[in-house]
Amino acid sequence: MNHVRITTAGRPDALTEARAFAAQEALGYERIPRNKRSVKNLLATYSSDILVVGKERYELYRQAMSEPFFFHPDTAAFRLKRLMKGESDPLITTCQLEPGSSFLDCTLGLATDSIVASFAVGATGKVMGIEADPDVAFITATGLSQFEPKFQELEDAMRRISVIQDSAASFLTGVSDESWDMVYLDPMFSQAIKESSSFAPLRQVAVHGGLTEEWVSEAKRVARKRVVVKAHFSDPVFDQFGFTQIKRPNTKFHFGYIEK
Ligand SMILES: C[S@@+](CC[C@H](N)C(=O)[O-])C[C@H]1O[C@@H](n2cnc3c(N)ncnc32)[C@H](O)[C@@H]1O
Repeated sequence: MNHVRITTAGRPDALTEARAFAAQEALGYERIPRNKRSVKNLLATYSSDILVVGKERYELYRQAMSEPFFFHPDTAAFRLKRLMKGESDPLITTCQLEPGSSFLDCTLGLATDSIVASFAVGATGKVMGIEADPDVAFITATGLSQFEPKFQELEDAMRRISVIQDSAASFLTGVSDESWDMVYLDPMFSQAIKESSSFAPLRQVAVHGGLTEEWVSEAKRVARKRVVVKAHFSDPVFDQFGFTQIKRPNTKFHFGYIEK
């Protein structure tokens, strides 16, 4: 369990106070006064990670982080706009998502993929995200329900996603056979993701570790149509677990699927 303390940005107004209280209630961490100290100072003084509560967002600093992790749907916004122009998205294509489909995201992270999936499955579909790290789960869940994006389709897609804090394999054991069309796996593989700087803070806060036999076998049991994985093109995971790898030229990340 990470050791985290909660503080506020600058002089907290009533809204920031309420948000700090919500974080304390949800995560059970101690609150410390800011007293105009820098985050660097707080990280050193308390030897703990620091969750800074601002008016508009939560920012998580783990030890040795100079840039915080916070929720932002920028990449999802970009992908939604492309879909709205009639372009394709490889996640949607690989997962064969259409209005009414259900999509269980076992590795929610910043929920970029889940937001894109939620847009594709629409109001008649269903998207749920599982996130093992309690801090990431809290920050992403709060962002999905409170962040006010610039366009309605993005807001609708975000608000429809439900979030569960749990480790995917343990969550899956309690789910019925063939109860989700698609089960999606995008864990933190070992290869660093150089092409995406907005992703770097997530790498520093998230749970690492690859797929396990139990995780994949539970995913296969729960999926009605496909289990889909995203991994670096050279990752052994495709062969190891029998995923059909979809080779995309000039991309570092490939999708793979196991058909039911
Ligand atoms: C590569 S990121 C996922 C990014 C996500 N697809 C997105 O679009 O933002 C992997 C996320 O899965 C989480 N994670 C890793 N192992 C997990 C597990 N066993 N169960 C649930 N979540 C896990 C990590 O904490 C991290 O937030």
